[in-house]
Amino acid sequence: MSERLFIFDTTLRDGEQVPGCQLNTIEKIQVAKQLEALGVDIIEAGFPISSPGDYNSVIEISKAVTWPTICALTRAVERDIDVAVEALRFAKHRRIHTGIGTSDSHIKYKFNATREEIIERAVAAVKYAKRFCEDVEFYAEDAGRTDNEYLARVIEAVVKAGATVCNIPDTTGYCLPDEFGAKIKYLMEHVDGLSNGKTILSTHCHNDLGMATANTLEGIINGARQVEVTINGIGERAGNTSLEEIAMILKCHKGIGIDTNINTQKIYPTSRLVSSLMNMPVQPNKAIVGRNAFAHSSGIHQDGVLKNVQTYEIMDPKDVGIDDNSILLTARSGRAALKHRLHVNGVDLDEEKLDKVYEKFLQLADQKKEVNDADVLMLAGADTADAHAVRLDFLQVTTGKGVKSVASIGLDISGQKFEAAASGNGPVDAAIKALKKIIMKQMTLKEFTIQAISKGSDDVGKVHMQVEYNGSLYYGFGANTDIVTASVEAYIDCINKFKN
Ligand code: KIV
Ligand code: ZN
Repeated sequence: MSERLFIFDTTLRDGEQVPGCQLNTIEKIQVAKQLEALGVDIIEAGFPISSPGDYNSVIEISKAVTWPTICALTRAVERDIDVAVEALRFAKHRRIHTGIGTSDSHIKYKFNATREEIIERAVAAVKYAKRFCEDVEFYAEDAGRTDNEYLARVIEAVVKAGATVCNIPDTTGYCLPDEFGAKIKYLMEHVDGLSNGKTILSTHCHNDLGMATANTLEGIINGARQVEVTINGIGERAGNTSLEEIAMILKCHKGIGIDTNINTQKIYPTSRLVSSLMNMPVQPNKAIVGRNAFAHSSGIHQDGVLKNVQTYEIMDPKDVGIDDNSILLTARSGRAALKHRLHVNGVDLDEEKLDKVYEKFLQLADQKKEVNDADVLMLAGADTADAHAVRLDFLQVTTGKGVKSVASIGLDISGQKFEAAASGNGPVDAAIKALKKIIMKQMTLKEFTIQAISKGSDDVGKVHMQVEYNGSLYYGFGANTDIVTASVEAYIDCINKFKN
């Protein structure tokens, strides 16, 4: 019989730490409910002491979700634990995730402490958390670079203090797969209290050298029974282990003898939802959920697949929720069709929000013959609130080869109308110069990317921008069939986030 692996999703904590990917509480609830439908066991909902936004999100996610355990991150600090306990008060199943750095470099440079002092602090934190919460997970930050003998002493001490799960993060993504597997094996063999299954080991791998999935798999093979993962592998720097890769590896390789509770048919809709809400594109060749993951382009492969799909496909796209027959919407499609397409993709909107998205859908369908899933998710993810201080009223640009680009722009700023015109070395430059004549602030464009959502010259262009203002970086997003308009909207999105 297969053994059970617990899936701990940290999309809303480690994943959300990615610059520009921050979600508001409503969006986080949407993701958490989708994770529940996907079948994850534990949702790490945030780091409550870090900000009022994280604190509130843990509260609201706890209220919204029923089956998964809701977990809150803390440092090995009593105040952190107090705040996490408060934030988890509505959770039906709760967990505190507390911990401290255990590698020599963390001990010396982060804590200016000794190895013995770190063990004392770890034990004290676990014991303190246990006073309020039965389920306490301990993380040994930078365990990947912590020597195994000392790590075993730390883990044994926190198991004795009552930790129910011990997390062994490869925080810097440094370990080789066999090294990481050997670390888990060493702990399984040398720590009293792990072999009876009362306390389980967890992996938490980062992808700095592209080995997060391989390391996680080695961890499972050597005895870890929980994995910490994110949707689309998002997370700090190069990201975390991706949930979809681990779930599908275990499904495709039954011989490993490990099962999860993941409903794999919900993987693709969940991936799309997270990507669109976070405005974080999925790389086209990403395993399982990338646009090209099931696309056979070479003649030899196409020929093979037409003869028998097993020649080049190791998984059925339907098993991950990719719907071959996805219906394309047009300007003649009604609200019900839009609602259905959103539902298939994991987004359920209330009537008021659906009306707003439908209005935008009709505008897009007028510009584009066929509106696909990526488009509707982009529309649903776009902020439909009209409460922003600065809004684009109109934009007109003249551009071309051998002429200077000229733009005139109209802005609505808290109900007042402003207009300006400027020339520039291209249409975007002209439009932003015109905008800056109205918004007279010292702001600098730091990053600017344009990406087509699917294909075709009538496609929607997505623009991501980073603007520096007053020493801080702001991230903005715009989407439009006209890329100059999308660029100006992304710039305005940044301005609307300025703190003063
Ligand atoms: O990567 C890491 O070590 C972490 C811990 C806080 C669990 O994210
Ligand atoms: Zn991490």
